[in-house]
Amino acid sequence: MSADNQQAGNFMSLKFAAKSENESFARVTVAAFVSQLDPTMEEITDLKTVVSEAVTNSIIHGYDGNPEGVVSISAEIEGDTITLVIEDQGRGIEDLELAKQPLYTSKPELERSGMGFTIMENFMDEFDLHSEMGGGTRIRMKKRIVSKKALYN
Ligand SMILES: Nc1ncnc2c1ncn2[C@@H]1O[C@H](COP(=O)(O)OP(=O)(O)OP(=O)(O)O)[C@@H](O)[C@H]1O
Ligand SMILES: [Mg+2]
Repeated sequence: MSADNQQAGNFMSLKFAAKSENESFARVTVAAFVSQLDPTMEEITDLKTVVSEAVTNSIIHGYDGNPEGVVSISAEIEGDTITLVIEDQGRGIEDLELAKQPLYTSKPELERSGMGFTIMENFMDEFDLHSEMGGGTRIRMKKRIVSKKALYN
């Protein structure tokens, strides 16, 4: 069954209100979706962390805490690779290179550490950030999952 899914590709998509209580829902949903690739605990933890970072960014930066905002996630599995797209229609990012710098944060008063994008770049195999002022932000990331079966057999 899962082999068929992998050959044909598989996807899911999700839209939810930009409320912090939805962050854990988002990361658990992605973890459940990727479970068909039989990921290791470490891979699951990495994926949950990047989802959490990206969704938190949309909520606190993209929408400045306005719960009327909508965050969407789509995930696609092709072979052993998961592609995640996380997007908002919020304020957008003025300077992408600056935003990606480790330790850069525009909200030091909220005790952010400025490490969200650095974590996403490090935990995933591919990371692509697209944003326009007033037009929202879209992050596309890919990770190859090394199945537990491959590790232990
Ligand atoms: N979805 C977004 N919409 C608008 N601005 C964003 C968005 N995501 C990130 N940014 C901008 O990029 C900066 C860097 O993001 P990053 O996640 O690396 O750090 P942070 O969120 O400030 O801190 P941390 O993630 O460590 O709590 C943010 O401070 C913010 O200015
Ligand atoms: Mg962040």
